[in-house]
Amino acid sequence: MKNVNQLFATVAHRVKPPVLIALGPPWPVANIVKMLGLPETEITCAQFDLHQTDRVKECLAEVGAAAETVTVPDIWDLPKRYNTVIFPATAHADREVKLDVVEQGYHTLLQGGTFLTLSEYEKDSQFAKLHKKIFGKCGETPSSELGMAFFSTKTDDETERRRHEVTFHAKIGEGAPMEFVSRPGTFSYGRFDAGSRAMMEVAEIRAGDGVLDLGCGCGAVGCLASQKSGPLGKITFIDSSLRAMALAELNAEKNGVKNTRFVRATRLEGLGANAFNVILANPPYYAKAEITRLFIEGARELLKPGGRYYIVTKMPTAVMPLIFDIFGDCSVIENRGYAVVVSEV
Ligand SMILES: C[S@@+](CC[C@H](N)C(=O)[O-])C[C@H]1O[C@@H](n2cnc3c(N)ncnc32)[C@H](O)[C@@H]1O
Repeated sequence: MKNVNQLFATVAHRVKPPVLIALGPPWPVANIVKMLGLPETEITCAQFDLHQTDRVKECLAEVGAAAETVTVPDIWDLPKRYNTVIFPATAHADREVKLDVVEQGYHTLLQGGTFLTLSEYEKDSQFAKLHKKIFGKCGETPSSELGMAFFSTKTDDETERRRHEVTFHAKIGEGAPMEFVSRPGTFSYGRFDAGSRAMMEVAEIRAGDGVLDLGCGCGAVGCLASQKSGPLGKITFIDSSLRAMALAELNAEKNGVKNTRFVRATRLEGLGANAFNVILANPPYYAKAEITRLFIEGARELLKPGGRYYIVTKMPTAVMPLIFDIFGDCSVIENRGYAVVVSEV
């Protein structure tokens, strides 16, 4: 988002405090805070993911600016107290995430407040429609190499909250199908991920096992694992995204999964050593290798003696050196075009 701050400068006169910056990459968010030059209490920066919030804090410190930083499962969890919501939208974000943020941001605005979207696209054809859908009207800056800004005013009486979510079903082998709710901005929206399915079809989970769903997303892996670990088993779900964790809780409850634990963390903290018989990991490979490394290095000490570690990947050659380094040995099971790398301690 190299131009977003220049783009913001063209619409900064529309901003009235208090201001909410909804999502957005850490650097542009921090720079916008600095450009606003408002007291800390007049700006809130909200993210879904604890890791992203940490990054926003780091960037704010680096640019010498201050704001309230919060992590929430839903933007509309924030109080309705803002005169401006700024959404620095990343180009690669799904349409559903964009719609969800505009919709939820609307509910945090005071009457007469402004919603301001900053789009990286030179010719953005999505946001004007999204704004009109929620606010009725939308103004925009001319198309330029900086991208485009869109602005709308909240003029109507509060409309009803509409949730954007998709329910899907999944089953493994002879197990009963389970139903899962997914929401925009969480992995994997609207379907059970093929890689996770490949892993679950080969993972050995025994009655009574303590299982860790590492990077649980909406919790499908852990819920399906509970069918094998049975009533004496225990399922722990961990993710850095609070939206994902809200879904994992919801889905575990909907599917009657008992003996559950939910951990919100970025560095696998709070899980305890030698705690699990099985760890099931499907890291976010699109992100930096840093998270894959954390999901491998950090997992080793979490396993009980004799415990089994499963990690699914399309690129086993990228993962295996690290697995050998940390676990000493591994085997690879090919399934559905994925490699499930298995290690025992
Ligand atoms: C590829 S998704 C897998 C989700 C889920 N297991 C599934 O099969 O649908 C990876 C997950 O890891 C989570 N994640 C990323 N960084 C993390 C971290 N530092 N700690 C915990 N979870 C993290 C992401 O939020 C995402 O939900």
